[in-house]
Amino acid sequence: MNAKVIGVGKYLPERILTNFDLEKMVDTSDEWITKRTGIKERHIARDDEFATDMAIIAAKEAIADSGLNVEDIELILVSTVSAELVTPTVSCQVQKGLGAINAAAIDMNTACSGFVSAMIIAQQFIKAGAYRNILVVGSDTMSKYTDWKERTSCVLFGDGAGAAVVTACEDGDGILAFEMGANGEKGDVLSIPSLKFSDEDIERRGGEKKRTFWMDGSEVFKFAVRIMGDSMLRSLEKAGMTIDDLDLLIPHQANIRIVDGSIKRLNLAPDKVYTNIEKTGNISSACVPVALCEAIKSGRAKKGDTIGLVGFGGGLTWSSLVMKI
Ligand SMILES: CC(C)(COP(=O)(O)OP(=O)(O)OC[C@H]1O[C@@H](n2cnc3c(N)ncnc32)[C@H](O)[C@@H]1OP(=O)(O)O)[C@@H](O)C(=O)NCCC(=O)NCCS
Repeated sequence: MNAKVIGVGKYLPERILTNFDLEKMVDTSDEWITKRTGIKERHIARDDEFATDMAIIAAKEAIADSGLNVEDIELILVSTVSAELVTPTVSCQVQKGLGAINAAAIDMNTACSGFVSAMIIAQQFIKAGAYRNILVVGSDTMSKYTDWKERTSCVLFGDGAGAAVVTACEDGDGILAFEMGANGEKGDVLSIPSLKFSDEDIERRGGEKKRTFWMDGSEVFKFAVRIMGDSMLRSLEKAGMTIDDLDLLIPHQANIRIVDGSIKRLNLAPDKVYTNIEKTGNISSACVPVALCEAIKSGRAKKGDTIGLVGFGGGLTWSSLVMKI
């Protein structure tokens, strides 16, 4: 048995912040942001809008799209780095918001690679015969961790949520192979402190104990270009496939130059890659499921296609999978 996507949904907050808006906030320009990142605009959650609110909207759409009833969902997996509460978790609040009374609920965090990791975990429960129908969500409000005075990172992120319902299918369909990994040794190149602040964390945040995002951009960039290509190839190899067998690749959308560098390493034609970064920025866990939802609903990804999903993120972590939809 494998896990197969049978429904998708997404939510992007109403408020749009353009590069021109950012020009008025920090010393930057639309030209710099477009050229260095490919981002033109991003959606920003309201002050009273959190990961849970967005996850519920995306999840409702995915369940409706799947044709299942909410009571059929047996497990809810939510990937997030921006849960508004430590407990109850986002997944438990989503269970309540949906009325998914038969579902267990688990939050997980492998940062931006989280949705792909959650799909891989869903696959394990289905393969083991423990569950048939699982809701997988990626939801993040990166704007709430953004230092809006720090021009290097504030131009990169946005908010949003994406969801997929997966169900048990025969071998040879659904998720065919995966690869994931971590390199904790390099974790320091990308961080958001919570309870513990090292002297370095404080220094990097202008001498303050701020719960804001900090990264070494060029280190992350180099890691991302290498790992996205390498991991995708390892998943394809495990599936007994080559890059030519992919109909569409949906990568984590952090920077268009990272995507371009990865597909160059993969020797993949740009028309086989789905990108939406221009309109969303980096929405962390939500990047891949939002793009997957758009690709399926627009007909870019069709029934029977072989799709690659690949993500990288804080930790450092990475995940990739190959699936038939
Ligand atoms: C952040 C990132 C876009 C920076 O791009 P870059 O080409 O490496 O740019 P640099 O950091 O070398 O900066 C080049 C110059 O632009 C400046 N700059 C940085 N941000 C700027 C901005 N928003 N507007 C204008 N100038 C900016 C820098 O200060 C630097 O100026 P200097 O040459 O006078 O020192 C890029 O490193 C990146 O995308 N990294 C990966 C980030 C990521 O994916 N994070 C999330 C992982 S899930």
